[in-house]
Amino acid sequence: MSDYFWDNQVEYLRNTRWLYYNDDYLEFLIQKVWKISEPVKIIDYGCGYGYLGLKLLPMLPEGSTYTGLDKGKDLIAKAEGLFVNLPYQTEFIAADIEEANINCEYDIAMCHAFLLHMTEPTTILKKMIQSVVNSGKIICFEPHWIANMANFHFDGLDQSKVIPLGILQRLFEEDAKQNGKDGNIGMNVPILLSQLGIKNIDCRVSDRVNFFGSKHGFID
Ligand SMILES: C[S@@+](CC[C@H](N)C(=O)[O-])C[C@H]1O[C@@H](n2cnc3c(N)ncnc32)[C@H](O)[C@@H]1O
Repeated sequence: MSDYFWDNQVEYLRNTRWLYYNDDYLEFLIQKVWKISEPVKIIDYGCGYGYLGLKLLPMLPEGSTYTGLDKGKDLIAKAEGLFVNLPYQTEFIAADIEEANINCEYDIAMCHAFLLHMTEPTTILKKMIQSVVNSGKIICFEPHWIANMANFHFDGLDQSKVIPLGILQRLFEEDAKQNGKDGNIGMNVPILLSQLGIKNIDCRVSDRVNFFGSKHGFID
């Protein structure tokens, strides 16, 4: 058994990705926002077991390729196993992004719930930029925890009694100052990209609203 934390989180990853956005939102992004109509070469940094590849490849033009890079050797083995019988061109690389150097090889560099775990996100974004061709895209799916917290609603309870926004806000801020890892990085990514000279920056907020109720089988 691996002693790398994320290698032991496959179940957590498998049980939580669906909470982030609806599948048809990805379709909307591919067609209307990213406007992908020709095959593309994608690299996904911190790919985990390849969730993004599993979701995107069926929706992308035939001939598109997906490369996943992750530090977790077991996660990469899991990804290879999941894709082995699927009809897609994929490659998986077990590597630490801090040591990887990929130059101008891809049309799109992506990451998904990854930058928030990085102590130096700007350095990582530089690597992502370096890995795409001149007209390439950088696509980051990252959270803004405090906004998520503000969106909670509980039937019959004051939100302030359950979600102390002020305390959480300070906690997230202090955490980010102490170790560089920022759960609110989502709203900072456009600023960092702009500081790195990236043009045509576009931002979206997930379409997903999660409803948990007894009638819907989530709570007994
Ligand atoms: C929250 S998980 C997200 C995984 C995947 N993107 C997903 O959404 O299912 C964060 C991932 O980043 C990877 N990771 C963390 N630090 C890394 C590094 N320095 N180099 C490469 N991968 C890293 C972890 O192994 C883990 O799989």
